[in-house]
Amino acid sequence: MPFFYRQGERGTWSPVTASDDDYLQAVYSDTALMTQLDSSGVPTSSSSEPGLMLTMLDALDAGPGDNVFELGTGTGYNAALLAHRLGADNVASVDVDPDLVRLARGRLAELASHPTLIAGDGADGYPPRAPYSRFIATAALRSVPAALMDQAADSAVIVAPIGLGVIRATVSGQGYAEGRFLPRPALFMPRRVPGKGPDFDRARDQAPETTALPVADVLERWRFPLSLALPGYSSCSWRSDDGEVTGVGLWTEDGSTVSAHTNGHVRQTGPRRLWNTVEALASLFPAGRPAREEFGITITPSNQRVWHGDPRGVSWNLPTG
Ligand SMILES: C[S@@+](CC[C@H](N)C(=O)[O-])C[C@H]1O[C@@H](n2cnc3c(N)ncnc32)[C@H](O)[C@@H]1O
Repeated sequence: MPFFYRQGERGTWSPVTASDDDYLQAVYSDTALMTQLDSSGVPTSSSSEPGLMLTMLDALDAGPGDNVFELGTGTGYNAALLAHRLGADNVASVDVDPDLVRLARGRLAELASHPTLIAGDGADGYPPRAPYSRFIATAALRSVPAALMDQAADSAVIVAPIGLGVIRATVSGQGYAEGRFLPRPALFMPRRVPGKGPDFDRARDQAPETTALPVADVLERWRFPLSLALPGYSSCSWRSDDGEVTGVGLWTEDGSTVSAHTNGHVRQTGPRRLWNTVEALASLFPAGRPAREEFGITITPSNQRVWHGDPRGVSWNLPTG
């Protein structure tokens, strides 16, 4: 990682390079570091938190004889680790950004490592090197892309961030897989999809409903199951001058928006009543904060479901396609 970007107090990003005093310390720290910004200054690629990468590689359990596909090349570091373990011929990695792929290829070539690095949409997989016995995604997915299922060998293992967790699923037949979430939280950059922003102005005009939920910590306690029940949701919070949370906002890309305040007032607008999902989760998990590993995923050729407890438990369909 020859450079990364650090966010200053005012939210602006500035580059940190080898000539900066704390560069090495940061590069070797167990934190995610931003490595690319778009033209409006929004991070578009990062070097993932090393501890999380190791947890995911551990779950991947790849060894000699495995053929791995990675979605999200980024810096190329993960691809380098995989190539070191499995041999470069057994690693294919795709990033949507051709510049990142070019840079990663150059860095790995300096180490005389030449895995297959391709620019493209990782959701298409890479058929020329299929079938794969292992899949690892380092960008958040809404569901496991159908093309990856098509390119899976028997008993292939899939490790991928979905919602705010990471699944480890095992393929059990053409188009079928099942598994559970790893205990560790994961916050990966999402594959960006165009969508509507929140409409708090319209929400403000709605008649208030009331809630008895602890609004200030709703997003802490039910944050993970909410990421499964409302895939891709965004959130914000409002605070008083002394820093106390006074309300939270949630929205999804279809424009559905809700604001909920600590006085118990909830205002919703848009095609979906998002707060109803929050209330439903709160009654399912009254003690709050259910563990990630209690949740799992079942993939079939026609749908993908995440569930709580076991595959017959309460479940939510993931958006596919
Ligand atoms: C957290 S970074 C990957 C970190 C990387 N594995 C490493 O070792 O540095 C996520 C990457 O996913 C890429 N990405 C986002 N959407 C993608 C897509 N549809 N297909 C392939 N790559 C994608 C981004 O460009 C970004 O580089």
